[in-house]
Amino acid sequence: MRRNLMRLMGFTKNAKLSLIVLVFSGIAGSVCSLLAPVFIGKAIDSLALYNVDFPRLYHFLKILAALYISSAFFEWLLMQSANNVGYRTAEALRQAGYEKLHMLPISDIDRSSRGDFTSRIIIDTQNVSQGLIQGLPKMVQGVSAIIGTMISMAIISLPVALTVALLTPLSVLVARKITLSSHEHYVMQAEAQGEFSGFITERISNRDIISAFYAHEGNIKSFDKYNETLTSKTYTAQLYGALVNPSTRFVNHIVYVSVGLVGSLLSLAGLISIGQVSSLLFYTNQYTKPFNEISGVIHQLQSAYAAVGRVFALLDRENEKADYENPPEYISAIGNVDFQDVQFSYEKSKPLIRDFSLCVKPGEKIAIVGETGAGKTTIVNLLMRFYDIDSGDIKIDGNSIYRIKRSQLREMFAMVLQDSWLFTGSVRENIAFGKPDATMEEIISAAKRAHAHGFISRLPNGYDTQISEEMGLSAGEMQLLCIARVLINNPPILILDEATSSVDTRTEMLVNRAFDDMMKGRTSFVIAHRLSTIRSADRILVMQDGAIAEQGNHDSLIKQKGIYFDMYNSQFLQE
Ligand SMILES: Nc1ncnc2c1ncn2[C@@H]1O[C@H](COP(=O)(O)OP(=O)(O)O)[C@@H](O)[C@H]1O
Ligand SMILES: [Mg+2]
Repeated sequence: MRRNLMRLMGFTKNAKLSLIVLVFSGIAGSVCSLLAPVFIGKAIDSLALYNVDFPRLYHFLKILAALYISSAFFEWLLMQSANNVGYRTAEALRQAGYEKLHMLPISDIDRSSRGDFTSRIIIDTQNVSQGLIQGLPKMVQGVSAIIGTMISMAIISLPVALTVALLTPLSVLVARKITLSSHEHYVMQAEAQGEFSGFITERISNRDIISAFYAHEGNIKSFDKYNETLTSKTYTAQLYGALVNPSTRFVNHIVYVSVGLVGSLLSLAGLISIGQVSSLLFYTNQYTKPFNEISGVIHQLQSAYAAVGRVFALLDRENEKADYENPPEYISAIGNVDFQDVQFSYEKSKPLIRDFSLCVKPGEKIAIVGETGAGKTTIVNLLMRFYDIDSGDIKIDGNSIYRIKRSQLREMFAMVLQDSWLFTGSVRENIAFGKPDATMEEIISAAKRAHAHGFISRLPNGYDTQISEEMGLSAGEMQLLCIARVLINNPPILILDEATSSVDTRTEMLVNRAFDDMMKGRTSFVIAHRLSTIRSADRILVMQDGAIAEQGNHDSLIKQKGIYFDMYNSQFLQE
């Protein structure tokens, strides 16, 4: 626990001044409220001991007023600084979480729920800031109040102070026991939140498919399940959390009564005055207040603590393997690709790519065909180093892809996938995604080469049109924008993974033309269904169960009368 708290303090760096103000105003506020009982005692005594001395009473009342006003001011200052500390810390945590997403290996991201990431970065960090905002002021006030009242009580009467000191551990013990037992419920609550968020993210992004199946009813049923789980976990957590406050209050009442008893006895014995007894009772109240208040916000603190754990768990995930230390300074790739005895599996128990060797000359056009699950996309994942191979090597122009920087490697490729990805922003920003400093000429030139310039010019604001769902771009047009985006850097190697699969007939011609143009002069790996693309390939790889089953050009493969021949007859004849 202490480790996580220390680590959390590291994220409050941006709010140093607020932290200082927070501690100062907390202590100053406590001093004001500690001094108040002294003057209340004196005020009472000026009536009881000094035969109703009004001027004396008036004097103490003025001091009291000043103390209460200052204490209100410090309270306000305390809350403001706590807010700032809380929000700044959440900001720093969100930043760290988001940056972490870029450092994780793709395999980790693939295995995890996207919504759970969102939940950790948005909801959990918010819970942490709430916990800080509620907890920090109470902690500072609490600690200074406890120390201050203890000293004040000891000055008035040592026996009373001792009574309180002896009873305190009881209160702490009770609170601690309940808090510990409820912690796991708060962790479960945060987990349920993450799973729920994962569910919603997944369902929203696949709304069209759900609609296609008309699966709303089932979808809502599964939603209800997640929703109920979250409700019941939250309820249980709060139920446990809610026990802490009443039980500490109960113990504190015992402390109060004991002080009253001991104080009265001492007063009867003439050791302290009635005014001092009343001061002692005030102090006891002040003394127990922090326990009550901290336990009053214990559920926020508990959720915050569970949330901190989840955020740190994200930050502690293992990063992508570091880049090679001594990469070549400058690489001008021409597009020679060499797979050497590559072995790879996603799960150790299920070998997938076995003894894969392939040497591709610059500018060669390789078509990869094979059934779903044959390992076509996996070859792309390995080539781009989204996943690391188990043994063998992959070289580009003689350099192992493991001995250059990832940034150098990725710059060599233009990759277009089945689902075009455009983000909220203008057409221009979308095209310049991989080259933020691109000039307008470069953007237009890339768009022209992608055959996208025509339709972009017809958009209401041309290149400055904001991309949105409502603008009704067809899948093909979106794909053209993606092509323009990869062309802007003019990379030597091209990867198309089923890139024409979801393109509509209206723009299909245009997209195919753009792809054909793109392939000219580039080493190309094309995973495609389109016969004309495959036919014109220099080499066709027929993949089966992670290995190359056949290879050759169209004619030679047809002559072989093997897998390709059968595929060709059953699959491509319709075209
Ligand atoms: N990220 C992954 N984790 C585990 N297994 C995977 C992953 N991606 C793909 N696979 C499995 O590896 C095999 C090959 O997949 P893939 O290369 O995508 O096939 P293709 O692109 O030829 O359809 C399939 O059995 C698939 O289920
Ligand atoms: Mg695939």
